[in-house]
Amino acid sequence: MKILSIETSCDETAVSLVEFHTENNLTLANVLGNKLYSQVKLHAEFGGVYPNLAKREHTKNLGPLILETLREADHYKELMQPLPPTQIIELEKILKREPELFTDLVKLLTAIEKPEIDAIAVTEGPGLEPALWVGINGARALAHAWNIPLIPVNHMEGHLFSSVLTATEKSAYAIPPVTFPALALLISGGHTELVKINAWGSYTVLGETRDDAVGEAFDKVARMLGLSYPGGPEVSKYADRARAKNIPATPALPRPMLKSGDFDFSFSGLKTAVRYHIDTLREVTEKNREEISRAFEESVTDVFLEKSKKALKEHGMKTFIMGGGVSANKNLRETFKNELPRSFPEISLYLPEISLTTDNAVMIAIAGYFKHLRREKDPSNLVARGTLPLSA
Ligand code: KG4
Ligand code: ZN
Repeated sequence: MKILSIETSCDETAVSLVEFHTENNLTLANVLGNKLYSQVKLHAEFGGVYPNLAKREHTKNLGPLILETLREADHYKELMQPLPPTQIIELEKILKREPELFTDLVKLLTAIEKPEIDAIAVTEGPGLEPALWVGINGARALAHAWNIPLIPVNHMEGHLFSSVLTATEKSAYAIPPVTFPALALLISGGHTELVKINAWGSYTVLGETRDDAVGEAFDKVARMLGLSYPGGPEVSKYADRARAKNIPATPALPRPMLKSGDFDFSFSGLKTAVRYHIDTLREVTEKNREEISRAFEESVTDVFLEKSKKALKEHGMKTFIMGGGVSANKNLRETFKNELPRSFPEISLYLPEISLTTDNAVMIAIAGYFKHLRREKDPSNLVARGTLPLSA
């Protein structure tokens, strides 16, 4: 089965074409085409992602990326053929808010013969709604023109699959049979949650942040320290430097909600504690950046480790999965790799390859494929769902 996938939930426009088959209980995903355009540099000028700017960029870039993906996958067979007027009218209706994408897709559909693709998977949420709509409408237009099914995908479920993949060769991955129940720690710019995975597609959220997402807290601390956006990688770099130079974590920061007895998180107080400390400094030196980054990162790591252990124990989990952009954090990865097997030697531990921690379309294709296997109903009214929960 071949799936074309589209991801536009935040600041990356991503498209991929993935072929699936099964071999000895393993699902194999062969990436035939994979293209991504990152808007990170553009948003960096503003210190964050602006939804309408993101939408504009997705509208401009999605058409060309679909074309490039089909070309890369050798699914671009030229055949000039006029589109029936009724189809143009329908596409115009679907893409009335994305005129550039309409023009690009009509051009594409006129230029090539229908490619051998079985379905289109697209991120329906969570994310920035204006951004999500671009991918959804692009996917709806193509699914209509090619008369193939649409599979709406939850972005966070995509991150889960990103974490369990193993590369078998260049552009080919195996998705192993995961033993359930599994605990997922999903940490990104918009999410911080501990989720019990009963089976693929069946999720129970055990706890989540009551205020800021952890990635957001990293980004805000970075800004306070005068570091660039996105701040997570920067804070992480400074913290690593502090450890390499034996510069202690300063100040002593709280471990928020460590003993709350539940699986919720809170990061706004931690951020405020950093703010108060910075306010006592005459100026922020490189050494301050190092010690504060270390203090912040280690506080976050401690909280995640303790709460994850508690959930693993209380729910008899067989597997641990970490996913989302913040799972690129080196200290967090090392700590979990070292600590979890000590207390839970039986548990399988999955961390995403660094290159797959960021948003991509391959994870959307894979989540779409598993959803297709579950034979969930084809949605007739697909809409952007900014706060779509995993347990929906
Ligand atoms: O999953 P993601 O790419 O996008 C969302 O869906 O939010 O996550 C982006 C977040 C940003 O807040 C970024 O600062 C953070 O992940 N991040 C990191 C690291 N790399 C990215 N945070 C901490 N350490 C890192 N190495
Ligand atoms: Zn993401």
